[in-house]
Amino acid sequence: MKELKILAVVVFFSLAVYILVEPIAHGVMHKTIDKQGFAYKDLPDVNKKGDATRGKDLVMGAGACTGCHSIEVAGIAPTMDALTASSSYGVVPPDLSIAGAIYDERFLHALIKNPAKALDVEHKFTPDSGKMHPMSSFGGAGGDIDQEIADMVAYLKSIAPDSASVTPTQAFENACGRCHEVRYTNWTQMGEKPKFKKERDSLIYDANVLDYQDNLKKYMGKLPPDLSMKYGARGEQFMSTFVENPQGLLHGTSMPRVGLNAESAEKTLQYLHDSYEPQAMREERDRTGLWVMGFLLILASVAYLWKREVWKDLH
Ligand code: HEC
Ligand code: HEC
Repeated sequence: MKELKILAVVVFFSLAVYILVEPIAHGVMHKTIDKQGFAYKDLPDVNKKGDATRGKDLVMGAGACTGCHSIEVAGIAPTMDALTASSSYGVVPPDLSIAGAIYDERFLHALIKNPAKALDVEHKFTPDSGKMHPMSSFGGAGGDIDQEIADMVAYLKSIAPDSASVTPTQAFENACGRCHEVRYTNWTQMGEKPKFKKERDSLIYDANVLDYQDNLKKYMGKLPPDLSMKYGARGEQFMSTFVENPQGLLHGTSMPRVGLNAESAEKTLQYLHDSYEPQAMREERDRTGLWVMGFLLILASVAYLWKREVWKDLH
């Protein structure tokens, strides 16, 4: 009887710890925040209708976007190679060919006006720090600045493909690829590593990536992690809310909120999901699963027949 009482007490406290403490500990160690649907409600509304033709002149204008960004679909080449760009800006300014399709419109508007604010990294570029965000704010071309920005966004949208046709790889490369490598897919911050015939060429490529990473480290304060395994380690909820709102989960982080729309955010996560568990591996696992089930079924039938055989004479 005494033992039973002790058991009851032990069971009670174990349950109490599990039910009360575990979720709290879990909440502290795995902070979660609500999804906002990639709406960026903290940024001002856009209420001007843009004119793509005027926007084109502004985007291409002196000191505007093409001084730093390439726009492949419009025939604008990068002004410098990736390594030189990283030493000037910390990263390669991304090509703007699909920007109009992958970024939220309200976000793009805010980005052009004040990059550090839209990217939610103002804490790193305070007047005291003496640092300026490497993307300059657009100061206006003499007219109504909100109208001018709306025109530029309209132009970016006009040259971009339909958002549905953007692939997960494109979305990832544009939005994350300048900062993060993904070893599983051979993606480096300088692009996908080609298959070199000569070992020497491969080493030169690697050395350039290391130099790029040094510049990136100086800019970010640390090297952004390889994302090969992140989706598997962190799960969908964390990844999605982190991309939407890095500050919310990791206060003070230098990772910007990149301002993707919901559709493209999902695609970047799709890319990362597939990198840690490629389609081929998944199919292989499903096939193996079927074989194992089949084998177990056969084993069970044989065992049953054998049991009948053995017990036959004993009844
Ligand atoms: C002085 C150079 C410079 C100019 C001028 C400039 N940018 Fe940028 N831009 C950058 C750099 C550098 C980055 C990458 C910043 C980072 O990753 O932290 C960037 C990032 C971006 C991004 C990606 C933002 C994101 O969410 O990740 C877009 C879109 C963009 N710029 C559009 C524009 C447009 C449109 C203009 C013209 C109005 C422009 N930029 C002018 C340097 C520049
Ligand atoms: C301008 C550079 C930059 C860009 C662009 C960028 N990141 Fe990051 N990212 C960082 C840095 C720096 C860290 C390290 C953050 C820290 O530890 O404070 C990081 C960390 C992360 C982490 C790890 C978080 C954790 O705690 O495990 C994930 C996941 C991630 N980024 C995903 C993304 C995805 C997805 C994109 C594109 C949608 C992206 N990042 C775009 C710089 C960047």
